[in-house]
Amino acid sequence: MDLTHRPRRLRKDGIRTLVSETSLEPSDFIAPVFVDATTDERVAIDSMPGHERVPLEEAVPRVEEVRETGVEAVMLFGIPESKDRAGTRAWADDGVVQAATRRITAETDTYVITDACLCEYTDHGHCGPLEADVLGGENGHECHDHGLTVDNDATLEALEKIAVSQADAGADMIAPSGMMDGMVGAIRGALDESGHTDVPVMSYAAKYQSAFYGPFRDAADGAPSFGDRRHYQMDPGNRREALREVALDVEEGADVLMVKPALPYLDIVSDLRREFDHPIAAYNVSGEYAMLHAASEKGWLDLEATALESLLSIKRAGADLILTYFAEDIARKISS
Ligand code: PBG
Repeated sequence: MDLTHRPRRLRKDGIRTLVSETSLEPSDFIAPVFVDATTDERVAIDSMPGHERVPLEEAVPRVEEVRETGVEAVMLFGIPESKDRAGTRAWADDGVVQAATRRITAETDTYVITDACLCEYTDHGHCGPLEADVLGGENGHECHDHGLTVDNDATLEALEKIAVSQADAGADMIAPSGMMDGMVGAIRGALDESGHTDVPVMSYAAKYQSAFYGPFRDAADGAPSFGDRRHYQMDPGNRREALREVALDVEEGADVLMVKPALPYLDIVSDLRREFDHPIAAYNVSGEYAMLHAASEKGWLDLEATALESLLSIKRAGADLILTYFAEDIARKISS
């Protein structure tokens, strides 16, 4: 046997950690937090075991729980007290995300990222005002070819108001998730004009129309009441298009580029890592969380081991930041 090359030499205890290429830190994670203006108690989210919607009063305690694990950043999602056609509660000064942001930034050092989107605030659950409404057409009219679709440019005006109201409330970073054309440029312009030149934008730059968002839509009560999001979110089959889509956000001034979901789209994470120098974020979404929990409840998978391996793979593919519902559990695990 003449084996010069034996990769196993470096897999022994003592050396394997020295040659390890990827490691996870609690500071890699952003924990999603749901603040719900319709409740005065914490409400468990059935499809996302361990996660809850918390009332405004509990926003600070909830964030303190996150910080105790070593995770330093949260992504805030809001469930408003009421919804309407245009989603006006999304940019209200006393809106649920704005109010929670004020409390959290006043009472803690947490880095607060706010989701800038309309789907939790519109009564139809889409990520912007509908064309039929903007054009003054008949509500509910559905054309066979196009269906009811979101009016892109009218949505940009709403997103500008949302971003400024969130930054006014003290948000450290704005994360638009609606996949509207021009959203990053519109938000950058509005933030700059209102004096928030230092507030960065993390764009959901390559967000796919995915079936993995199901549990989140229960959590945030943001499922579309008809149709789906294929007219604005990306087609899962498209890889080259992601580079074009993301290049636009870069031109428009995005500071951080996100891919979403994470595990089924690691090729996209890896493409972006190679193509751009920006920090890359990946969103390990609700369905990715729910499926590991479901399999582990059946005794088919080891929850902690598969979660850890998933997050490690997302980082190995090229993500610098990971949004994940596992943030607290895995941060606790890796620092113990
Ligand atoms: C809303 C939004 C969604 C998620 C984050 N922001 C849902 C969607 O686009 O339908 C999904 C997050 C998750 O599944 O964890 N624009």
